[in-house]
Amino acid sequence: MYIKSLQLKDFRNYDTCDLSFTPGIHILYGDNAQGKTNILESVFLAATTKSHRGSKDQEMIHFEKEEAHIRSLWDKEGIEYRIDMHLRKQKSKGIAVNGQNLKRTSQLMGICSVVFFSPEDLSIVKEGPSERRRFMDMELCQIDASYLYHLNQYHKVLNQRNKMLRDYFPGSRSYSASGQNGGHFDQEQDFIEVLSVWDQQLLDYGRKIIQRRQSFLMDLNEIMKDVHGEISGGKEEILISYEPDTTADDFEENLKKSKDRDIKYKTTNVGPHKDDVLFSINGIDVRKYGSQGQQRTTALSLKLSEIEMIKRIRHDSPVLLLDDVLSELDANRQNFLLDKIGDIQTIITCTGVDEFVSRRMKLDKVYRVENGVCKIMNES
Ligand SMILES: Nc1ncnc2c1ncn2[C@@H]1O[C@H](COP(=O)(O)OP(=O)(O)OP(=O)(O)O)[C@@H](O)[C@H]1O
Ligand SMILES: [Mg+2]
Repeated sequence: MYIKSLQLKDFRNYDTCDLSFTPGIHILYGDNAQGKTNILESVFLAATTKSHRGSKDQEMIHFEKEEAHIRSLWDKEGIEYRIDMHLRKQKSKGIAVNGQNLKRTSQLMGICSVVFFSPEDLSIVKEGPSERRRFMDMELCQIDASYLYHLNQYHKVLNQRNKMLRDYFPGSRSYSASGQNGGHFDQEQDFIEVLSVWDQQLLDYGRKIIQRRQSFLMDLNEIMKDVHGEISGGKEEILISYEPDTTADDFEENLKKSKDRDIKYKTTNVGPHKDDVLFSINGIDVRKYGSQGQQRTTALSLKLSEIEMIKRIRHDSPVLLLDDVLSELDANRQNFLLDKIGDIQTIITCTGVDEFVSRRMKLDKVYRVENGVCKIMNES
């Protein structure tokens, strides 16, 4: 599968932009803050409905505009898909595939797959657990539409539950303002009852997330063993495993136990929003004891395993988006990554192209990006 073209209107710092791609390797180069990452972000958004940096829709609309449009054309085994996305400041985004409006964003899943690799991913192993959860979610949302739905629902319920703990806890003004402004709880019992309604939904969605993450990491572990063995020349044996905050079976019990603490701290302290992922090399926790090099190699194997997993599930290659990541890798790791690209369509951003030219890499299209304008430099 590959992206054939991309058109932007009022997206980030672009007024308009029109790019075409081949199935090969593309470079977007230019100085800092010119709009290179913004292009990759729009491709990722078109494929997944989400920004790779977790930005909200309104943040991606040009500062001076009310809405933005992204049109992308994709080729999947000879079948063409046109994806139109319409971002609006106050409303949720509109999406159409080949002119048909989608009712739910999750309906887009399964058409396009992309892997985004940025310098931040290189610190995924040493940073806090939220980065590792983000990785699982980004990947799972692409391969499993029901996961995307359950995750969105879980976060909605979690936010509601936390809002209730924050604003309407026993003893708060809102809590005792019963009868005024549609005030809330006469007694502590009422509060607990309403909380338990949220609890049930939190448990339902949360359990599904925990089970899916568990099976995902088991599958990924199998792939990563081989990839990491290859990168390390057989010297390192990697293990990736799930560290859930609570198992699906114990979630109800743990949530109950945590109720007093939740009320005291006005937030939900138990659930998959607290999960982590363990990486160990030869039995040692890389997050805590790995060298910088081991942590980076682990991150690289993780990304390469992600590509492999998508290939196996989709029976097709994802589009690879490399955001300024090559300059962060040493020569060995760069070579390993570039060798692995093979026939995967790739869009690379960087500040200069000399390095690629000196490597005699075949670059299909080279664009120079300057202040929200992309200019083709090697039109044949
Ligand atoms: N909503 C927006 N509207 C207009 N401009 C925006 C918006 N969001 C970001 N920008 C601008 O986009 C530019 C950053 O773009 P981008 O992150 O793509 O840069 P880059 O070329 O990747 O730079 P670097 O090499 O530093 O990573 C900044 O000038 C920023 O002000
Ligand atoms: Mg950038």
